[in-house]
Amino acid sequence: MVGGGLGSFIGPVHRMAATLDGEIAFVAGAFGSSAESSRAGGARYGLDPARVYDDWRALFAAERERPDPIDFVAITAPNHVHFPAARAALEAGFAVLSDKPATATLAEALALAEIVAATGRPYGLTYTYTGYAMVRHAREMVRVGTLGAIRKIVVEYEQGWLSRPIEQADDRQAKWRTDPATAGIGGCLGDIGVHAHNLAEFVTGERVIELCAEVSRFGPGRALDDDANVLLRFAGGARGVLISSQISAGARNGIRLRVYGENAGLEWSHENPDRLTLSPLDEPQRVIHAGMPGLSDAARRATRLPTGHPEGLIEAFANIYRDFATSIRSGDAGERALVPGIDEGVRGMTFIDRALRSGAQGGWVAMDMGAE
Ligand SMILES: NC(=O)c1ccc[n+]([C@@H]2O[C@H](COP(=O)([O-])OP(=O)(O)OC[C@H]3O[C@@H](n4cnc5c(N)ncnc54)[C@H](O)[C@@H]3O)[C@@H](O)[C@H]2O)c1
Repeated sequence: MVGGGLGSFIGPVHRMAATLDGEIAFVAGAFGSSAESSRAGGARYGLDPARVYDDWRALFAAERERPDPIDFVAITAPNHVHFPAARAALEAGFAVLSDKPATATLAEALALAEIVAATGRPYGLTYTYTGYAMVRHAREMVRVGTLGAIRKIVVEYEQGWLSRPIEQADDRQAKWRTDPATAGIGGCLGDIGVHAHNLAEFVTGERVIELCAEVSRFGPGRALDDDANVLLRFAGGARGVLISSQISAGARNGIRLRVYGENAGLEWSHENPDRLTLSPLDEPQRVIHAGMPGLSDAARRATRLPTGHPEGLIEAFANIYRDFATSIRSGDAGERALVPGIDEGVRGMTFIDRALRSGAQGGWVAMDMGAE
């Protein structure tokens, strides 16, 4: 692991998820921005001190010389670390499972795509919400045509925790997320907007081709966006709306997707992640629960408990880890079909870049404009 030191938010979730199914051992890492913080983390996690490294450069250099090296690295440090650490890991021969956004800038994402292709090593992204059983089932329902042709996609992700400028009061997580040097080009768009964009594309299989965004900064003195409202046009003709906000006071972690086809609509909300609502035009509404009979293979494989026993964030993360591990073990990239990869990473960074561009200049902006 790179990142995930003492007091970090998502590092512990990664560790619990990685080891949940007993298929992955957590053996080595560089856990902080200093040798001291890395060693403090490694000691607490009970690792062999010889495999707790001062930084990620030392980690990859030493592990590649071992007779029993790591198979892959999980990158869970702030965004500016993603590209250099992923590049170094891939070039040292290791597979990479990185947290989002893939990189800090679009140019980095395009460069990383070339490195992934050149090294041929597996690369995955933990777009968490793709790991939920009912999200995977929703994807299957769209794929087999339950909704008919998709016409409208509404995806929203609202949080309220940056309503006040808590970065000025030394909140560590708010600090790096509001600083372009550590967050990259996107503030709220990079932190949660990319999740919303990815969720919409993952479930529907539709691709955003153009967008029109209003991007705002409410926090006093903020250099990066903390609120965005985006209109979307999809390649297949569907239209959509994406909301990404961290100043929606009182909102917690409200990611929600609604998809409307010619014949039916569906809704999934992270507040009740083991439920999916299907609303056909000509039949009564149905609430589908994780673990119930008759679900798709994709949903069944992503469920560990009988219906009525809630599973959550850690299990969703664990599904991504398990699929990634399976594909490394089998050497079959097809096994990674449900794990977002570098293409999704580039699309996410393109989405941020284009939304910022549209927000600054006004009007519609195409997704496929290259890096400039
Ligand atoms: N997939 C998700 O749902 C999800 C949720 C939260 C965060 N994230 C992503 O995870 C990453 C970390 O977010 P967080 O909230 O856990 O941040 P955090 O500030 O809580 O933790 C970051 C950790 O990385 C360490 N670190 C900093 N620089 C480092 C370096 N150069 N080398 C090694 N370690 C270093 C810090 O010491 C800390 O332990 C971000 O990229 C964020 O976007 C994803």
